[in-house]
Amino acid sequence: MSENDLIQNVQQTQKEFELALDVAKDAEAIEALRIQYLGRKGCVADLFKSLSTIPSENRKAAGQALNQLKTNLQTALDKKFDNVKNINTSVNEFDVTMPGNWPDFGRLHPLTKVTREIKQIFSNMGFGVADGPEVESEYYNFEALNIPQGHPARDMQDTLFIDEGFVLRTHTSPVQIRTMESKQPPLRIISPGRCYRRDTPDASHSPMFHQVEGLCVDQGITFADLKGVIQNFAQQLFGSDVKIRFRPSFFPFVEPGAEYDFTCLICRGQGCRVCKGTGWVEISGAGMVNPKVFEHVGYDPEKYTGFAFGMGIERIAMLLYGINDIRLFFENDIRFLQQF
Ligand code: PHE
Repeated sequence: MSENDLIQNVQQTQKEFELALDVAKDAEAIEALRIQYLGRKGCVADLFKSLSTIPSENRKAAGQALNQLKTNLQTALDKKFDNVKNINTSVNEFDVTMPGNWPDFGRLHPLTKVTREIKQIFSNMGFGVADGPEVESEYYNFEALNIPQGHPARDMQDTLFIDEGFVLRTHTSPVQIRTMESKQPPLRIISPGRCYRRDTPDASHSPMFHQVEGLCVDQGITFADLKGVIQNFAQQLFGSDVKIRFRPSFFPFVEPGAEYDFTCLICRGQGCRVCKGTGWVEISGAGMVNPKVFEHVGYDPEKYTGFAFGMGIERIAMLLYGINDIRLFFENDIRFLQQF
């Protein structure tokens, strides 16, 4: 064999090897190729044998080509073997204890949950649920509630006015009027819903917030009934050791009127940041329905008495869940919402 023939053979072997390696898909096939090409009786060994038939002064180029071929094959086999091994190991070492990919579940918003609980408690006490519009006429939001024109409660600072004569309701109290217009006593309703005030958002203010209105009208209803209902509610929601207190206050649609507080559940009355060290958290206002309101809806104030109360739903949710910033309810950060 001439040196050139041998070099051609070397090139041919390299090509055949590459094709064969390409289709070798597992470690066994690669090992078979290694034996076929680099084994003691393999093609490369044969080529080395034919090298010895070439006169030694003509062997240099063929010898180099042959050595190169051997190295090439060796490297290519090693590389392919590593690839196959990696694929196999990743399959073999699959960790069955790894957590799976969980789909995200929807949840009830904390305000929805609290509102449902509030409805349930009052429904157990015989209260129905009433509803009213969020865009409300000035008549229902103010006038009929004995808040005449020029009253400070109508101040531009607080109220978001829409068109002439219409506002975004600043409280749920207009539902009192709408209910009394359409029903005769005795009646017992609550009305949860959104309210709006021109407040700059901070930890305890939001221009949109939620209230529950409560109204009970019948013959012989007294302030003691109001206190009993509020006390019962507070204890059902927060547990039997929660205390309530009423402080005299003024709302044009009740007389006498009060603001009422619950013991702070975050510090259990010891005094903390949420209750500003007082041990009490203000919930809202309440009182006996003002006879002037009864006159607006055509009830006989000589015959009937009633109580009404408001309730800030965010405040209750903050107490219940230990949340110290009202804005968290409306940012809808999934990390916050997932906790409920
Ligand atoms: N509507 C009052 C407010 O938003 C609360 C209230 C309701 C007071 C019912 C008395 C009776 O501040």
